[in-house]
Amino acid sequence: MNSILVTGGCGFIGTNFVRFLFEKDGENFIVVNVDKLTYAANPENLVDIQERYSKRYFFERADICDFESISRIIDKYDVDTIVHFAAESHVDRSILGPSDFVKTNIVGTFTLLEAVRERFEKGKIIRFHHISTDEVYGSLGKEGYFYESSPYQPRSPYSASKAASDHLVRSYHNTYGLNVTISICSNNYGPYQFPEKLIPLMIVNMLENKELPVYGDGKHIRDWLFVYDHCTAIWEILKKGKVGETYNIGGENEWENIRLVEFLCELVAKKINKEAGSLKKLIKFVKDRPGHDRRYAINCEKIKNELGWRQSVDFETGLDFTVDWYIRNIEWLNKVRSGEYLKWIEINYGYR
Ligand code: NAD
Ligand code: DAU
Repeated sequence: MNSILVTGGCGFIGTNFVRFLFEKDGENFIVVNVDKLTYAANPENLVDIQERYSKRYFFERADICDFESISRIIDKYDVDTIVHFAAESHVDRSILGPSDFVKTNIVGTFTLLEAVRERFEKGKIIRFHHISTDEVYGSLGKEGYFYESSPYQPRSPYSASKAASDHLVRSYHNTYGLNVTISICSNNYGPYQFPEKLIPLMIVNMLENKELPVYGDGKHIRDWLFVYDHCTAIWEILKKGKVGETYNIGGENEWENIRLVEFLCELVAKKINKEAGSLKKLIKFVKDRPGHDRRYAINCEKIKNELGWRQSVDFETGLDFTVDWYIRNIEWLNKVRSGEYLKWIEINYGYR
């Protein structure tokens, strides 16, 4: 790998991945971050990287739906590897307005594939790695796991758009021979996550003494993975993954939402010298998310057995670090919060 194009590098996982790439010793590749800078992006996340690695890190503001711009960028930096994170990523927003999800997640991925296909045929592309989500597999009952062989049963506009993009990526491998790999990951948590997602939202609301909205009965289950471990998994796939293959990545760490929120109350209370009970009193059960998937649980034996990947951060350590990060970065939080979205939340879920 000499020239890695990362899409969506100013978002949550993309930022962590770019930072991860520059922590590697002995690597000389350049990294080109292509991001449209939507509400979920913060270009300031990588200002220090830009300063320290000005000869190896480049930022290009562009929309992945814009074929000309993407083609120009791939040529300009002689890109040989693509790691594709850019997406509309929030389920609630996809319920509010699916249109951007169809545009970016489906048309954007298609446009990117088209721009890459031409260069692949000239022998210039060694890998197109696509980042996907366990939500494409649908919703589980009390038992069972998602395997790479599980059928796709997406149930929200977000997961349907991600499923469509996965199918497109696979079709470019089967039809044009493009060197693709796909990873399908469970819920990530960690620094730089936009505070519309459960964990940062709860932390911020606790710090501001606001209600902690739990959807429905709070017994929905998610499998949580520290974002750093998602990055190490992607790296292993880039290095050792088999072209054409899909790899599940998960935390093997299932939590009911309500238990997780209560646990967070205990963690945050310790940090800000409050009684956990006073934070727990802020919990409010609110109207459920339409079509709310009941349980996600990933089986990630394949990446463990074939590529030797392992999770390295246990949940308590990762959450403790995450809570500290948001407390230290309250200014970051204030900058990224969007008034418009909060209004929508108020109307639809009855809290703000
Ligand atoms: P995010 O919303 O935090 O960031 C998305 C980034 O993509 C933003 O910087 C945004 O500006 C950029 N972007 C959006 N539309 C664009 C466009 N048209 N052109 C260029 N850039 C655009 O998302 P995230 O949570 O970091 O998720 C990254 C990827 O990982 C997504 O593909 C998501 O589906 C997938 N994923 C996320 C999780 C999770 O828990 N967050 C889990 C599994 C998979
Ligand atoms: O599973 C991977 C997916 O995880 C990613 O593909 C998505 O990009 C990412 O947003 C995430 O989707 P979820 O819908 O699982 O994440 P979210 O943080 O929105 O919600 C987590 C759970 O918490 C879910 O069951 C809904 C619930 N929830 C969420 C919010 C924001 C609440 O109960 N209250 C809330 O205020």
